[in-house]
Amino acid sequence: MTDTSKGQKMWGGRFSDKPSDIMQAINVSIGFDKRMAAQDVRGSKAHADMLAACAIITDTDNAAIQEGLDDILAEIESGRFPYRDEFEDIHLNIEARLSELIGETAGRLHTARSRNDQVATDFRLWVRDRLDGFSESLAELQRALLGQADAHADILMPGFTHLQVAQPVTFGHHMLAYVEMFGRDRARFKDARTRMNECPLGAAALAGTPYPIDRDMTSTALGFRAPMANSLDAVSARDFALEALSAASICATHLSRLAEEIVIWTSAQFAFVSLSDKFTTGSSIMPQKRNPDAAELVRAKVGRISGALISLTMVMKGLPLAYSKDMQEDKEPVFEAFDALSLALAAMTGMAADLSPNKANMEAAAGSAFSTATDLADWLVRELGIPFRQAHHATGEIVALAERQNKALHAVSLKDMQNIKPQIHEGIYGVLSPKNSAASRTSFGGTAPDNVRAQIKLWQKRLS
Ligand code: ARG
Repeated sequence: MTDTSKGQKMWGGRFSDKPSDIMQAINVSIGFDKRMAAQDVRGSKAHADMLAACAIITDTDNAAIQEGLDDILAEIESGRFPYRDEFEDIHLNIEARLSELIGETAGRLHTARSRNDQVATDFRLWVRDRLDGFSESLAELQRALLGQADAHADILMPGFTHLQVAQPVTFGHHMLAYVEMFGRDRARFKDARTRMNECPLGAAALAGTPYPIDRDMTSTALGFRAPMANSLDAVSARDFALEALSAASICATHLSRLAEEIVIWTSAQFAFVSLSDKFTTGSSIMPQKRNPDAAELVRAKVGRISGALISLTMVMKGLPLAYSKDMQEDKEPVFEAFDALSLALAAMTGMAADLSPNKANMEAAAGSAFSTATDLADWLVRELGIPFRQAHHATGEIVALAERQNKALHAVSLKDMQNIKPQIHEGIYGVLSPKNSAASRTSFGGTAPDNVRAQIKLWQKRLS
């Protein structure tokens, strides 16, 4: 029988009394760190193999440990693993279970390691897996947006500044703006992954260990690039989680911007796009309603995700080296933020594929509010050689006139325009349509449909 089966703490050798219920309650983390169970087993298997390879434990003991850990993994995966509060955290739960399954040999597993390097390793493995998942989900989202851009590349819509109609753009161009944004988010997750991919295992409690361990072996077995070079840093670093959270937070911010646009675009006043029954909900009192709840919730998720970043930043601030129990508070914000981001990405990908643009409304709006006034000013510069500032002023007068006459710019008579600038001729009407306006924006990165199609091709190649 092992110590633990008598209800004693794993670390209870020097203690004669039991902890108070409150001590137990504030200390226990199994309720949430059980999510790292598979990573903990993985780390332990690599560690035991290394101990055997370095002749620190026997091959027979290692075989028993490996078998026990495999059984535990099977229990975890099938939901049969008995998580118990009295063993505090996932590390002690698994070790206790191992000793129930294989007896005293289980006690050899913890040679040359500590829960401090163990938890740092498990958490890195967990975060790393999720970062890989985000890269994939972001690519899916990009593909959905690209699909919209491709299908509706030259639908005209107003481009906005200050949410006021500014200049005509194409829907394809607007979709591609988000494809670019989410591309940078992916790159941030990838960078974070590269930087975090070093192995803390073998740093032990804080100072390293006198056993002749092989840290390269465990590092390689767990898919890390190299062992972390400083044992104090290895057990106390959580910037990998902070960096992942800040990438998540920026990504959630981007999602919230697109979500906001969907909320605006689906309103009756805009009616630029519609969402199907799949991504909308009804009202319990107003039978006519179709609400963009999914978009609103995606817009809101950034609150928790950004909150998690602040929360962990505050936990880590001012912590002396090396490990402090404060760091047990690192996991919940990350778990919560990553779950929220996964769901938000899935919902946004669903909406991005689902939405259908209303060409007539978008194109009507594209020509509203004198959206081609800049084109008029540019024409005056190009055709009449007037300095831009003067052209801007004359255009302002023409806009004011159109406003008084309650007309669109292209409906103002040539005579009226000539009253303001006598040299204006018929040619002006060539640039006043939203279509010509958009088509003229051929500078690199501009909204001209030809540009947009070229960018779509590029992204299709990158994402295939
Ligand atoms: N549950 C702990 C955590 O999440 C594991 C490390 C405990 N280490 C210690 N020295 N008490 O941080």
